[in-house]
Parts: sequence; C-alpha cells; structure tokens
Amino acid sequence: MPATKEEIIAGLIQAYNMEVETIVNYLANSIHLDGVRADFVKQALTADIQEEMTHAQQIGNRIKQLGGRIPGSQALKMTQSDLQPPEDTTAVIDVIRGVLAAEESAIRHYNELIKKTDGVDYVTQDLMISILANEEAHRQQFEGYLKEYTKS
Ligand SMILES: [Fe+2]
Ligand SMILES: [Fe+2]
Repeated sequence: MPATKEEIIAGLIQAYNMEVETIVNYLANSIHLDGVRADFVKQALTADIQEEMTHAQQIGNRIKQLGGRIPGSQALKMTQSDLQPPEDTTAVIDVIRGVLAAEESAIRHYNELIKKTDGVDYVTQDLMISILANEEAHRQQFEGYLKEYTKS
C-alpha cells in the first residue's frame, strides 16, 4: 500500500537508525575479535563500515530533501542484541550470525520501503533498491563465511 510522505520519512529515519547502529557494531566487532579464523571476518567488517556509512549518508540526504530531521544520537534507538561483541573474543561464528541478523532485518526493511514508495516516491524507491542490492551482497558474503566456519 502506498504511503504518505510522513510515513516515508519515518521509514527512512528508521533505516538511518539501523545503518548507524550497524556501523557502531561492525566497528566494535572488527576490533574485538581475536585469532587467525577471525582475520577475514574483521577485514570484511572493516570494509563494510564504509559501505554502511555511505548508506547512512544517502538516506540522511533523502530525509533532508523530503523535509525531515536527521536524528542525532539521543534520537537513536539501539536494538541489535545479536551483534554485541561476544565475551569469547574467538567466537567468530556468533558475530557472523549477528551480521546475518542485521543484514536480514535491513533487507526486510528496504523491501517494505520499496513497496510503500511504489507509485508515490520513485526517487526514494530507487535509492532503496540500490541499497537493497548492497545488503543482499553483504548477506551472501557472510552466508559464505558461515558455511565455511560451521563445516566440521
Ligand atoms: Fe547498509
Ligand atoms: Fe549491510
């Protein structure tokens, strides 16, 4: 069902919030993990921080263009319980699973926004589609890591 401009702005603010929280947690985990097995995952997270930052910037610019207010730190809600740095610093699999949960929830949210903007806001829709393609690529990358790390 097509959304109002206010609903689209609210959806974009939520997307911005998710991207910023993802950056915070990818950053923490890219530093936190130890061991040979963690190295590739740490490198992948470090590279993804830049991509998620680009998403946040693109979404923030669209919020601005639509007349919305970009949230500061006190307006953000932090909810990614699956992506907290694990107590065991070699628990790479836990981090991979947390990344997959974050990417899945981003994918779900972008798919919703693509539907909501259909016929009413093609510029936002186009942006959501291009970000969705990036998130699907992230998911594929980490699904590959999970496959390897869970092989006995
Ligand atoms: Fe992203
Ligand atoms: Fe992502």
